[in-house]
Amino acid sequence: MKRIAVLTSGGDAPGMNAAIRAVVRTGLDKRWAVFGVRHGYTGLIGDNFLGLGARDVGGIIQQGGTILGSSRCPEFETEGGRIKALRALQQHDIDALFIIGGNGSQAGAYELSKMGYPVVGIASTIDNDLYGSDMTIGVDTALNIALEAIDRLKITASSHQRAFVVEVMGRNCGYLALMAGIAGGAEFVVIPEIKTEPETIAARLRADYRKGKAHAIVVVAEGAHYNAERLWHYFDEHHERLGFELRVTILGHVQRGGAPSAFDRLLGTRMGAAATEHLARAEHGVMVGLTNGQILATPLAEVAANKKQLDMSLLELARALNK
Ligand code: F6P
Repeated sequence: MKRIAVLTSGGDAPGMNAAIRAVVRTGLDKRWAVFGVRHGYTGLIGDNFLGLGARDVGGIIQQGGTILGSSRCPEFETEGGRIKALRALQQHDIDALFIIGGNGSQAGAYELSKMGYPVVGIASTIDNDLYGSDMTIGVDTALNIALEAIDRLKITASSHQRAFVVEVMGRNCGYLALMAGIAGGAEFVVIPEIKTEPETIAARLRADYRKGKAHAIVVVAEGAHYNAERLWHYFDEHHERLGFELRVTILGHVQRGGAPSAFDRLLGTRMGAAATEHLARAEHGVMVGLTNGQILATPLAEVAANKKQLDMSLLELARALNK
């Protein structure tokens, strides 16, 4: 009988609970003993394990966040930290570890697998910047939250003929901003992948007003050189010359909260179930992700070595749609 453990690491993402539930229940189905690790790699180093039965993961599929807790753990980035983690796994006789998380978490998973320990990664981050998965757990929900905010802002923007900047998360990746901009019908999208000068935005917004547009929404990625704060300062400083000022909304962690969408519940469930299947076939050192509609595994070495590229034709699409 195998003994397996599961942890969630890095920024929490809606749908992580669905993945935990699927790992636990499909693991139990295989007659394995299942354990959870509290607070990600911190709990691994600190020997914070708990047994998980089917009932322990009841009623969680609809909850955002992660019942196991998560953390960012600098100690795990050191060899000493990883040795402590390995020791804890061995002390509990755990045969394999499932790691639900994004780039940093999967890089950690790769380090453990290089030390000879069986791990299976599960692709989860609201940023959608992880190589090896077209969509990661949490992206869809975060996008829907951003859209709800944009839809609301459009109403007040139209009433006052004002320009609004909405900043979305995404770290150094423009995916959330670009998709929220397209689906929200924004006038302009600013992403980290391309430097955009504030003067370009101002010129575009002026042209939009001349066309008789009632509102102007600019979606900015937090990682863009001119993020919301910098844009606000620029427009404030040049207010007289530019002719208008900006109102700014930074969505921040609001995007990570809330109930997971149907898409994220299903994605988490499918990935969790696929992950235990891979282990049952003795396929580890991989991360499961969504590729062309299928849940497929990518070697962690490949995940760690590659950077996911943003489809830049979508930026062109966003431009073309703003008429
Ligand atoms: O990686 C997910 C994410 O929400 C990023 O979009 C954001 O930059 C970061 O985490 C925020 O991290 P923290 O919650 O540690 O402040």
